[in-house]
Amino acid sequence: MASSQTTRWLWRNVTLFDGLEQLPEAMAVLVEQGRVAGLWPESGFDPSLAGGAQEAANGGVMTPGLVDCHTHLVYAGDRAGEFEMRLEGASYEAIARAGGGILSSVRATRAASEDELIAASLPRLDALLADGVTTLEIKSGYGLSVADELKMLRVARRLGELRPVRVLTTLLGAHALPPEYAGRADAYVSLVCDAMIPAAAREGLADAVDVFCEGIGFSPAQCECIYQAAQAHGLAIKAHAEQLSNLGGSALAASYGALSADHIEYLDEAGVQAMAEAGTVAVLLPGAFHVLRETQLPPIELLRQYGVPMAVASDANPGTSPICLPTLMANLACTLFRLTPREALAGMTAHGARALGLPELGRIVVGAPADLCLWDIQHPAELAYAVQAGRLRQRVFNGVVTYAR
Ligand code: NIG
Ligand code: FE
Repeated sequence: MASSQTTRWLWRNVTLFDGLEQLPEAMAVLVEQGRVAGLWPESGFDPSLAGGAQEAANGGVMTPGLVDCHTHLVYAGDRAGEFEMRLEGASYEAIARAGGGILSSVRATRAASEDELIAASLPRLDALLADGVTTLEIKSGYGLSVADELKMLRVARRLGELRPVRVLTTLLGAHALPPEYAGRADAYVSLVCDAMIPAAAREGLADAVDVFCEGIGFSPAQCECIYQAAQAHGLAIKAHAEQLSNLGGSALAASYGALSADHIEYLDEAGVQAMAEAGTVAVLLPGAFHVLRETQLPPIELLRQYGVPMAVASDANPGTSPICLPTLMANLACTLFRLTPREALAGMTAHGARALGLPELGRIVVGAPADLCLWDIQHPAELAYAVQAGRLRQRVFNGVVTYAR
């Protein structure tokens, strides 16, 4: 379908999930100049209301474009060997402490050029787009030197220029301690604070700063130094927290006004309360839970009770979630974490957008940017219920149909 941002397009008779709820009746949706310009119940709809707009499609389920708010999409190499070691009983932590895990991807990523990283990452990005993603976050964290972290962030930015998708970038310099800093973690944290964060901010390469607050990552005190540097440079804050143990990383992040705390399997009630008070989004990563065969469930019922918004993301990465099928994450969020299909979809749209500090995205309301998906299914819940690639009929980015079968 030929289309341009100045054309008026009309979708007729769609079952609409607006990012939070399914609307009670079939709808007509007008898109003009990159935005949702009109929403009408289909019954009694008068096409003259849409001022001669061209019909883009009739029928199907429409959702906001999916927001994948937590990925490590840029890396070189793979960790299939470690997958087998874990199946034979080795733990993720033991592999990491023996110099594998994240550091194995660091070795491969340091050795790769920007072009090689683009070539390795594009197929993964294309898989996300084919399953409905219109906005995603990409973290660094496999470089762990100033030059290699900036290289990863530049690759992430370039990916957003190569495809019709919005990419937000997050500096995750505090992902693991690089071997050349063994025994000198505080010196490495100083490098992150005094060199990496300022350089990424100066070059406009990062939208946010993330940390891995964990026994095999960084201590809360070290994370706090990094948050202070991030704030001083006007960057948003995020955390990998409470994934393998409870160090209070989510409450710490919330106290710095973090956009999100992610993983949070070991989060306790005090942490939930701190997140609720700060408006910090809970990012659930069922892919990592599934691949690591974890058993400690995130405190879903407490998050509901305190009204903490729950996002769902792929965590696409070579170690704990080598999965680039976002609708599978909706399924896993339901089957493993007992989210409702409605919660899972809101987690991949409205709440995912909030976790990136972009609350105008992930919604289908008049005036919102027209990032939309049209699916060949009968009900929105099918996206979480059935695991099946190829259900996306149209993907609309900024009002332009970019993918149509
Ligand atoms: O989100 N937990 C830390 N970071 C990633 C895994 C990175 C890796 O193993 O390469 C995660 O699970
Ligand atoms: Fe992650």
